[in-house]
Amino acid sequence: MVDVAILGYGTVGSGVVEVLTTNKESINKRAGKKINLKYVLDLREFPGTPIENILTKDYEDILNDSSVKVIAEVMGGVEPAYTFVKKALLKGKSVVTSNKELVARHGAELLQIAKDNDINFLFEASVGGGIPIIRPLNQSLTADEIYEITGILNGTTNFILSKMADEGLDFETVLKEAQDRGYAEKNPEADVEGFDACRKIAILSSLAFGMQVDFEDIYTEGITKISDVDMMYAKKLGYDIKLLATSKKKDQKVYAMVSPMMINKDHPLSNVNGVFNAIFVKGNVIGDVMFYGKGAGKLPTASAVVADIVDAVKHLERNIVSFWSTNKMELTSIESVSSRYFIRLDSKSNEITRKQIKSVFNDVEFVKIEDVNNEVAFITESEEEGKLKQKVEELKNNIVTEDILSVIRVDK
Ligand code: HSE
Repeated sequence: MVDVAILGYGTVGSGVVEVLTTNKESINKRAGKKINLKYVLDLREFPGTPIENILTKDYEDILNDSSVKVIAEVMGGVEPAYTFVKKALLKGKSVVTSNKELVARHGAELLQIAKDNDINFLFEASVGGGIPIIRPLNQSLTADEIYEITGILNGTTNFILSKMADEGLDFETVLKEAQDRGYAEKNPEADVEGFDACRKIAILSSLAFGMQVDFEDIYTEGITKISDVDMMYAKKLGYDIKLLATSKKKDQKVYAMVSPMMINKDHPLSNVNGVFNAIFVKGNVIGDVMFYGKGAGKLPTASAVVADIVDAVKHLERNIVSFWSTNKMELTSIESVSSRYFIRLDSKSNEITRKQIKSVFNDVEFVKIEDVNNEVAFITESEEEGKLKQKVEELKNNIVTEDILSVIRVDK
């Protein structure tokens, strides 16, 4: 028998208890040992719940109990999670977590402590909820040099963009629905500004390339500026707009970015809708591999946490090697990455505006939709981001009376 503890009895924590209870027999068989939930740490009271008798408010109870070999941290946030996790690992207890903020900031250090102590720090649930992606990167794709990871890593924004596209609704209306359904938080910033996806691609990039990719270095743009009119143009062009998180390696240089992107209908991520997430990975031997599933929610996330508990129980006192050093990876600026831009601007005279656009951008593809008359929209040729940005500035300066309404990247 192995005693385990859970830190945090919120959505994910209660899901972990539910999964451990519902699938108790098969989980114990797979772990090769009986898993006994001995403590749940939370500062709140939960009268009448199944964990009432094992609830503690004092972390020292868990830390000082030598029978507890595995701890599941599902509190979220960097502190006190970081302090608790570090103390547990230093005491020789394995830790599993769903906490992407913690993993993105301190993953390399915590993995090293686990390695030094012949135990494990596992974090499958931190990216893609229930989708297995960390373990495949760590264990199944180790024959490959990975040169690209691109994913829809945030369910809330994918729900919003899918609904805007399907129903012609504007951002604010769909955001409100996402909040009512409990996908988006009251303060939706982390999701809609791309910060959540940024931390997740930082974790995946660090694992894929074996070095510390700092999330602060990743260019991040959210979806708050995407309008219902942009969606109409995308439809006309045969594109979907998705919030993509990507990192690519070329000639030993890596760049990473989170940004809304117009993608073609034949793009592998085009049909990923609603709260679903998907990640495709490109390796030099295997080619393209894609992972798809529920990227958020109580039970999908708890499924990944419990799978990590099972793995930790199977590997007590044996470290599962991970390829993520504390050495910092310097990312290449996206200024040197080639892109195409979709641009919309106000226009009182479409003919004059088109002439001015051509004088700045040379070859462009104009696009017109019915019932939208006082603006001009076009897609540029593929060019380095730095140069495209300069040209957008030039356009702003040349066309004094008109405003640029949207600039959205277009996948090649
Ligand atoms: N808020 C996240 C999402 C779920 O919407 O995908 C947790 O990572």
